[in-house]
Amino acid sequence: MQIAMVQDKIVPVEQLDPAYFDRGLYFGDGVYEVLRSYNGKIFGLDEHIERLANSLAAIEITGIDVKEIRGRVQEAFDTAKVPNVKIYFHVTRGSALRSHGWDNSLKPNFFMLISDLEEDPELKAKGVAVSVYPDIRWKRCDIKSLNLLPNVLAQQDATRKGCFEAIFLNDAGFITEGSSSAFFQIFGRTVHTTPLSKSILPSITRKFVLKAAANVGLEIVEKSIMPNQLKAVDELLLGTTTKDVIPVVEFDGQTIRDGRPGKYTKQLIEEFRLFTV
Ligand code: PDD
Repeated sequence: MQIAMVQDKIVPVEQLDPAYFDRGLYFGDGVYEVLRSYNGKIFGLDEHIERLANSLAAIEITGIDVKEIRGRVQEAFDTAKVPNVKIYFHVTRGSALRSHGWDNSLKPNFFMLISDLEEDPELKAKGVAVSVYPDIRWKRCDIKSLNLLPNVLAQQDATRKGCFEAIFLNDAGFITEGSSSAFFQIFGRTVHTTPLSKSILPSITRKFVLKAAANVGLEIVEKSIMPNQLKAVDELLLGTTTKDVIPVVEFDGQTIRDGRPGKYTKQLIEEFRLFTV
């Protein structure tokens, strides 16, 4: 016997959309990617597909071919015929009656949404404020999993404080990354950022920002720092697929230098742009 209720209506279980049984919904049992295009070209497709393959392997989702997903992304993008879009997709373990363990015969579910990318030039021109939030996430933040409740709560807290993004601080007080971005600190001619580990997402933007930094002759130090070290910082910036490089001019209520985007950040924005053409 099974009875389902959707909102206030009793529904015969046989008539339910399988989406109601998606393990992504019950357990966050799935992984996702977000990509964007610039002027008709998808940026970093190979990198995103490689990270997807790593995420799928890490949570043992099999039965879906990443090469095929690559083809689907390209096909949907070609169909959209819009030069600047955001591409979101996820792969969940599949649909089944709720039970923590899974059956290896489950067929993964795939969902993709392509939407217009709204650019806000003010963000790059003026910079943004960030708040801080405790990093209450699990110990495998390198997997781009659908479990995003800590990230959601952190972002909401930032928004409530009038900030653009929340920066996570781990239990030892070190900066890890943003709720949906990589975070960089510039001291003199040195760019600092958190080293890759299971504690942060291997951000694709991070990779290209570091490449851009090397191109403009900045030294790169992959080391975590604490907020009190920011007293001496010259520039802050964050990186995320949908917005690439965004200057940060206020950290946890403290204005950085003159409160305007720094010169190296501007150079990084320009250098990053070159990767996208
Ligand atoms: N988030 N760190 C976290 C926790 C993220 O969620 C993201 C991106 C990044 C930046 O990664 P990338 O450069 O590969 O976009 C870092 C996406 C955009 C999102 O969840 O919407």
